Amino acid sequence: MARIPQEIIEQIFTTARIEEVIGEFVQLKKSGSNLKGLSPFNNEKTPSFMVSPAKQIFKCFSSGKGGNAVTFLMELEQMSYPEALRWLAKKYNIEIPEARPQTAEEIEAGNMREAVYLITDVAAKFFKEQMLETDEGKAIGLSYFKERGFNDETINKFHLGYSPEASTAFADYAIANQYSEKALQESGISMKNERGWYDRFRGRVMFPIHSVSGRVLGFGGRILSNSAKAAKYLNSPENPIYHKSKVLYGLYQAKQEIVKRDEAFLVEGYTDVLSFYQNGVRNVVSSSGTALTEGQIGMLKRYTPNITLLFDGDAAGLRASFRGLDMMLEQGVNVRVVSFPEGEDPDSFAKQRTNEELEAFLKSSKKDFISFKTSVLKEDVAGDPLKFAEMVRDVVSSISKVPDQIGRQVFIKEAASILEIDPTALYEELGRLQGIQQRQQKKRQASAPPMEVVQPREAGMVKIHGFEQEERIIHLLVAKGTEAMLDADLDEEEVIPVSIATWIVDEIEEDQIEFATPIFSKMYNMLADEVEKEHVPNTDWWVRREDPEIIKVVTEALTEKYTLANWKSKEIYLPDEKNTIFPLVNETTLRLKYVHVERKLNALKEYLSMENADYNYYMVQFQKWNNARQHINEKLNRVV
Ligand code: CTP
Ligand code: MN
Repeated sequence: MARIPQEIIEQIFTTARIEEVIGEFVQLKKSGSNLKGLSPFNNEKTPSFMVSPAKQIFKCFSSGKGGNAVTFLMELEQMSYPEALRWLAKKYNIEIPEARPQTAEEIEAGNMREAVYLITDVAAKFFKEQMLETDEGKAIGLSYFKERGFNDETINKFHLGYSPEASTAFADYAIANQYSEKALQESGISMKNERGWYDRFRGRVMFPIHSVSGRVLGFGGRILSNSAKAAKYLNSPENPIYHKSKVLYGLYQAKQEIVKRDEAFLVEGYTDVLSFYQNGVRNVVSSSGTALTEGQIGMLKRYTPNITLLFDGDAAGLRASFRGLDMMLEQGVNVRVVSFPEGEDPDSFAKQRTNEELEAFLKSSKKDFISFKTSVLKEDVAGDPLKFAEMVRDVVSSISKVPDQIGRQVFIKEAASILEIDPTALYEELGRLQGIQQRQQKKRQASAPPMEVVQPREAGMVKIHGFEQEERIIHLLVAKGTEAMLDADLDEEEVIPVSIATWIVDEIEEDQIEFATPIFSKMYNMLADEVEKEHVPNTDWWVRREDPEIIKVVTEALTEKYTLANWKSKEIYLPDEKNTIFPLVNETTLRLKYVHVERKLNALKEYLSMENADYNYYMVQFQKWNNARQHINEKLNRVV
């Protein structure tokens, strides 16, 4: 898709109101000049989620998340930056021009996709109506779902329906209402042969399959009798909008709960999803009877790295799936498993239990995949030493797929304890496997371009010496940058006509201070570039940056209280009579300079301790910086 032009991005930001956007997901109530609500990121009883219409930011005090309308959508709905912008553009009827006109084929393909979307959506409504409003539908379809224990809320939430016995019911309806016959055929909902049209799903109860954003892509249809002649379930064929390997049943309904609970339960079938959902365990999805694909794992991983698989009691199916699970380990998923008692599946189990019982069961039977696999395999090989060795290799092979070293160590220890053997043997096997893997990788690398290094998401930030001083300066630059730098020591007529941002940048450039924390360094450089162009960025400018990490810092800066009390609590004392911004900026800048000088001195100390150091030269330098420190100290003391 084409890049969104900068002026359109500006237009989106000026038009979109954060309170309206968030209002679609969270109920907001007025609270002073702000709006408050229950955090969509946490389960909470008292509202700690704040939206500021004036600053166009939100802040969630329970999860620490914060940002603008775009980063809100990115966080909550797991959209990418352009997806979030397009969502907003659509909401506010802003047209995004395409960079190049589409070709005739593209237009036709696009139109066909849209037509298939349309007919599929029409079919979903038709099946629902048939079930809820016709005698046949009520007597057969609805009563089937009711018999299986599904209530109206579940039936509604999943848009369940019924496809009538008459073999042309939907085809007749679609054609009579002049929907595209070509699209009908493409969708696979109705088919055509020499004798004419006929419906794929006749006489079945219907489970619509939704995209992540809630569009109907296709259907699963279940037969009502237990006849062995026909397949129990029929599914939509692959078509321009339905790709079996790229959808997860229930994800649309489950995604928010998956983010909240930071875990997804994966079950095997439609009815398992429905029963869990109805029971109250709503972070549940299904891959509809097929082995999980890489694409599906990728989709789930956008919401959580913690995936728990729920198995029926049947052991054969379970062993067959071991191989597929290694792939999840390789993708960095924390794979856990729960196996249900013999003869039960998630559907039957959930139905017979209260929510508390089900939650307790899941909690107590959840095992990490590797320990689980080890225990299962251990039972298989009891007493057979040859098979035992093979089993050890199998287990270690899974462990070798875990991307991080600490994780691998933990699993080795666990497996050793389950198998009651010395971990050394397992480490040796791991070393051997990794040797093989490394050689293979080298071969691959020789013939392929270097792989992109993927940074772990939200790895705990290491705070560098001087982090707080750098943070304070950046916060001031963002929140107060455009304010005038007033010196309380001066008479009113002698007001210095510069902005705080310009003043700070001048100070920093003069002493050539460098920021050590990457995000602050990045933000400072952005600001310095603007100031050089004689543009002093205001808070709106900051709130509209693209980088979510920057937006996070901006939100912090804009929600901080720049009052004396607050700064006092951070152990910076300001004399009360000089209650202006000047001493604050001055002192903060001095403290940053102090850190800078300390860094220089530390480096010099290292040089001086080295053999062959040019002692005289470094000593002179050391003296110079030591004097500078003295000087700053005096100034700081005068302020304090
Ligand atoms: N499935 C399918 N086609 C089949 C059988 C199964 O697509 N002929 C898929 C369906 O998505 C089904 C899942 O595999 O939900 C699991 O199959 P199964 O356990 O047989 O079905 P249940 O979901 O338990 O269905 P029910 O409880 O209605 O019998
Ligand atoms: Mn079942």
